[in-house]
Amino acid sequence: MIATVDRRPLVNLTLVRWHLIASSIFLAISLLGGLAYAFQFNNMYPFAGIEWLSPGRVRMVHTNMAAYGFIANAFIAGMLFAIPRLTKRPILSDQLGMLIFVAWQLCMVLTIGGQLLGYGQAIEWGETPIFVDPLIVVGLVLLVVNIAAPIVTTAENGLYVTLWYFLAAFAWTGLVYFMGNYLPQFWVPGTAGAAITGLYIHDLVGLFVTPIGWGLMYFFVPLLLRKPIWSHALSLIGFWGLAFFYPMQGVHHFLFSPIPMYAQYGAVVATIAIEIVVLTVLVNFFGTLHGRSEAVRGNLAIRWFYTGMIMYGITCFQCAFQVTLTFQKVIHFSDWVVGHAHMVMFGVFGFWIFGFFVELWPRAVGRAWVHPRLLTMHYWFTVIGLILMIIDLTAAGLVQGYSWGALSHWSKSVMDSMPFWWVRSVAGLMIIAGQVFFFYALWATARRPAEGTVPAPIPAEAA
Ligand code: HEM
Repeated sequence: MIATVDRRPLVNLTLVRWHLIASSIFLAISLLGGLAYAFQFNNMYPFAGIEWLSPGRVRMVHTNMAAYGFIANAFIAGMLFAIPRLTKRPILSDQLGMLIFVAWQLCMVLTIGGQLLGYGQAIEWGETPIFVDPLIVVGLVLLVVNIAAPIVTTAENGLYVTLWYFLAAFAWTGLVYFMGNYLPQFWVPGTAGAAITGLYIHDLVGLFVTPIGWGLMYFFVPLLLRKPIWSHALSLIGFWGLAFFYPMQGVHHFLFSPIPMYAQYGAVVATIAIEIVVLTVLVNFFGTLHGRSEAVRGNLAIRWFYTGMIMYGITCFQCAFQVTLTFQKVIHFSDWVVGHAHMVMFGVFGFWIFGFFVELWPRAVGRAWVHPRLLTMHYWFTVIGLILMIIDLTAAGLVQGYSWGALSHWSKSVMDSMPFWWVRSVAGLMIIAGQVFFFYALWATARRPAEGTVPAPIPAEAA
């Protein structure tokens, strides 16, 4: 029995591959939903008059598939690769891993179907229908049992910071999901429920996506740069700072609301305090890059990672200002916030995920990338498209905010926003064009004849 266990490969690349495939499929669905919804702002909604494809429902599919379909699947793939390598132990059960994979994708399909049929839950970011929520909670618990087992049983001395982040995410995610989807719905209505929803929205980004994202960065960056992280102490300061300050920020989504002002001020202070954490993490990663900066040109995964980190720095810097009541008076409810959301969800975590793909896909399919030039084009189309979208929406937000502040007629702000909404659609098309190169490269690589060896990652300039 023990011999059988020992003969299992350390990393289950089949599971990694399936989660990456699912991630890319849900990315495609999310992007098409986002583009369709963007066209609604141009009076060109492609599904006008079709109830189950009405814009509000398609918007839910867009955001939920970005978070739970694209990001969550890719993060699971990353952890399935990183955890066994760091603990020198395989996950608890490959069969359970496959069951979780199937169950997770079933949850996604039920979410899309439920939302399109009008069963979306009326909770921001918690729109997964209430009949899917229990399945997701059970799925998360099983996932944690399966991939935390090697961390708990490892014989390694001391846990690397990546595993600290993962363990924290494991502890928080189930709680956060339960809190956000159940408390406001069934037990805590009204203003108190809104405060919980704010906590949920922010913690989903801060206590699920962020710790897993940074955990994977701490794993991949030193590995690809072939040097240790610059400062282990700084990495721990970053970790504890995140754990301490992040949970208090949620109410900043509802500034100027009837939620008590002490809670709002507390959220503002905690949000500004998180800048310390951000700074430690960024200093640490750019310190690690020092002396190896040619890797940003020479290794496409590293390029994605550091582009995402720059986006992270800008997002968080923006956060420290936009969370103040002075800024909020202008930007609240405007497209500025949508620009910010795309910068963090796509520009940071999405870009890191593309880096994981560059590194993991050849290993998962056992073939070297074909057409590396397509991957370089994917990078440039995506980055330029997203930067265009962010600048555009940020400017649109200012135009809208000042227009509302001047008490102009609402319709004037809508008319003034029209050109910006056109630019957003063009930027979206550009991003989608980039993904066409990417999907084709994934498909063509998986189909090329096997070489029998796990290929080295491609250098960016091979293209
Ligand atoms: C083709 C590219 C994309 C287009 C055209 C697009 C378009 C849109 C549109 C029109 C909205 C609704 C804005 C509103 O309600 O006023 C939206 C919301 C959102 N999108 Fe996208 N999107 C794209 C890609 C992505 C990606 C890749 C992600 C994440 C990985 C993402 C994350 C989000 C989030 C988090 C929101 C909610 C924003 C908020 O409520 O403030 N989007 N998107």
